[in-house]
Amino acid sequence: MKKLLCFGHRGAAGHAPENTLTSVETAIALGADWIEIDVYLVDGELVVFHDARLERTTNGQGYLEKQSLDYLRTLDAGEGERIPLLREVLEHVDHRVGINIELKGAHTAAATARQLDLYLSASGGNWEQFLISSFNHHELRLVKQLRPQLRTGVLIYCLPLDYARMAEALGAYSIHPSCEFLNRSLVIDAHQRGLKVFPYTVNDEETLAQMKALEVDGVFTDYPELISGVGRG
Ligand code: G3P
Ligand code: CA
Repeated sequence: MKKLLCFGHRGAAGHAPENTLTSVETAIALGADWIEIDVYLVDGELVVFHDARLERTTNGQGYLEKQSLDYLRTLDAGEGERIPLLREVLEHVDHRVGINIELKGAHTAAATARQLDLYLSASGGNWEQFLISSFNHHELRLVKQLRPQLRTGVLIYCLPLDYARMAEALGAYSIHPSCEFLNRSLVIDAHQRGLKVFPYTVNDEETLAQMKALEVDGVFTDYPELISGVGRG
């Protein structure tokens, strides 16, 4: 039976403040093969954060993209953690697992490509350690134009009429559908087009069994031990 890849969602968001270095480290300790993080561009730096606004996960206020980087770096992102920069996550992970960078904010494609150039030229490693995903398919198209060697994953919330056709047209590596809408037709169509299928977000045994029955290639989870079995006897 093929191995089901485990993507630690926002690190290990079920165990630690999401999208922080501790969350990332927890995911690795719990056996994640990949970690997933979200990025925005602020004052020329890629910052790791999920929401458009600051209130839910920090002690700050307002829209993240309207703040200065200096202000964002003063905030508590949970349990005393700072909002990390993408380059800090890259250095922290240090090639131990793959990194799925989800482009949330505007103009993040080019900045991410440049950041990975710098990181890979300084530290070695290869482009296949990275997977760039987004619900913004225009940003994904730009990623492939800028760095054809970089793998992309097309995030999908609902069930497209033409299934995985647009992901193939974008030259993507994978589709990342919501597990709510995923069905056998979409999995078969994606596989026939040579695409991997990585649904989000799988946080319980019942949903995991459904995803396995659909023969997906990996899943996103807030609880990496659910897939890896680490620490579960
Ligand atoms: O990449 C999978 C998942 O993270 C997409 O949804 O809202 O958690 O970023 P969201
Ligand atoms: Ca995400």
